[in-house]
Amino acid sequence: MPIQWIHRFDIAAHVPLEGTITYAALAASARVDEALLKRLLRSAMLSAHLFREPEPGRVAHSASSRLLARDADLRGLLEFELTILAPALARTVDAQRKWKFSDAPTHTGFNLALEYPDRPFYSFVAEHQEKRDALDGAFVEFARTEGWAKKHLLSGFDWDSLPAEGKIVDVGGSLGHNSMFLAKEFPKFKFVVQDLPGVATEGKMRLPSDMANTISFQAYDFLTPQPIQDADVYFFQNVFVDHSDDEAVLMLRNTRNAMKKPGAKLIIREPVVPEPGTIPVEDELRIRTFSAIGDAGDELDAEEMFGALP
Ligand SMILES: C[S@@+](CC[C@H](N)C(=O)[O-])C[C@H]1O[C@@H](n2cnc3c(N)ncnc32)[C@H](O)[C@@H]1O
Repeated sequence: MPIQWIHRFDIAAHVPLEGTITYAALAASARVDEALLKRLLRSAMLSAHLFREPEPGRVAHSASSRLLARDADLRGLLEFELTILAPALARTVDAQRKWKFSDAPTHTGFNLALEYPDRPFYSFVAEHQEKRDALDGAFVEFARTEGWAKKHLLSGFDWDSLPAEGKIVDVGGSLGHNSMFLAKEFPKFKFVVQDLPGVATEGKMRLPSDMANTISFQAYDFLTPQPIQDADVYFFQNVFVDHSDDEAVLMLRNTRNAMKKPGAKLIIREPVVPEPGTIPVEDELRIRTFSAIGDAGDELDAEEMFGALP
């Protein structure tokens, strides 16, 4: 709750980056109640290392709160976690009771929490600019972690093995951040970023003009037949994890049916739950907490998944 309050009233932005400010001046600047501010900040100082009180009655930034003040993507991650993820997780058990463990994308805690019946999560996001911005920030933050670092995109596949003017389809590619990264390394490739209509339109608008000849955007629902049949690569990152097995199979089938070009490749980069006890406990705990209660997606268990491959 203190973090939610601090985020909602943008307290970090009202604390000077250097030096201190009194609680009274901070409350006046952020237009919040002073007594409540003091209580919640003192709690967050202990629980989340946000802010410091170097002398009684005066507030200064800690390293974490300074980052919060400076980093819009971090604020996006918080917005996503506090206004989408946390309410959805709080209603997930209710959703499972209501819909009897259904894995349909419209039977999730998110549908109950945000009162968004009969539509999947991503169509909600595609229709709400501020939620899209929050999710973007969250993805930028995820991409800063080692597992999602973009450098692995380069080392994970021999891109030089593709034809000089290879065509890459970035399916569910959001605003095209992976394609932009690859385009800088391989400017001769042509990239098509496919996503839901609202996202594709925004991607087109935000695309830097010097990439307009290399990257294009296409509105496409990956649960329908894939329209591009002459690509060298169909690339999916962090997409299957959000969907049920049935939908994942449909997406794969749609892709396979479009892979008409000889030698066309399917590249998948997804989070996988490791076998118990094979990575540090904190990392495993984080992954398992998420995968155990995830929205519509099924857990991608390494043993089960790779065991199922031919
Ligand atoms: C978890 S994000 C991953 C984005 C990107 N691939 C990445 O790794 O950063 C999932 C993406 O799939 C898109 N998406 C969800 N449902 C879709 C659908 N039915 N058809 C096309 N794109 C969809 C979302 O809009 C979102 O951009």
